[in-house]
Amino acid sequence: MRRAFIAGNWKMNLEKGSAVELAKALVDGTRNITDRDVLICPSFPLLPIVNDIVSGSNVWLGAQNMYYEKKGAFTGEVSADMLKSVGCEWVILGHSERRHVFHEDDSLINKKVKSAIEQGLKPILCVGELLEERESGKTEEVVKRQVVEGLKEVSPEDTAKIIIAYEPVWAIGTGKTATPEDADSIHSFIRDILRDLYNSKVSENMRILYGGSVKPENIDSLMAKDNIDGALVGGASLKADSFLRIINANIQS
Ligand code: PGA
Repeated sequence: MRRAFIAGNWKMNLEKGSAVELAKALVDGTRNITDRDVLICPSFPLLPIVNDIVSGSNVWLGAQNMYYEKKGAFTGEVSADMLKSVGCEWVILGHSERRHVFHEDDSLINKKVKSAIEQGLKPILCVGELLEERESGKTEEVVKRQVVEGLKEVSPEDTAKIIIAYEPVWAIGTGKTATPEDADSIHSFIRDILRDLYNSKVSENMRILYGGSVKPENIDSLMAKDNIDGALVGGASLKADSFLRIINANIQS
């Protein structure tokens, strides 16, 4: 049985005051949670202050990106060690905004995945197709390429440190969600890829999150699907009440 995982991606939102308020409300609201993992990923400048609030609680801290080099002349970038030093356990890699706004390709994302693991951070590898790719029947081809390239040279043992998030780009921030059935079938396709790349244990143990307009209204039907193990939530993670409702989703046993 895979443990459920609910992650909030704050993106480039919230300043110190509202971040502190939200983090405190989430720590309070998750006090009694024992059966699922909860993660928040604030922007870089907020990490230390949010870490002070969440450390020792049921809320994990993660970052939204990192660079693969350890240190040096890379203006504007941050390393895995820097993120760990401010309490991060997780890092989102290959988010569609990194791929499409900042032109990150599969090879760069793969370097980041390997570097994160080597340096003790756990990657959430995001994959997902554009609307035009879906409409031209290329969803599986694109998702397969992103999974295979993203995990290149990652050992079967190290896959245990990774989570995959399937986020169809056309569903992110648009209010359009993939139907639970559509998402489940892509998740199941990702498990087939993992079985071919590794083995059935890796395929069965991998937690695969769905992301793209996840809201209090649709989380239960998404979580009801066998292959959906959690959610990567953008907009609805910025308010304590909506994110707590998502965190408290019904989980089928
Ligand atoms: P959204 O974003 O929930 O606002 O659609 C999800 C994401 O980009 O991770």
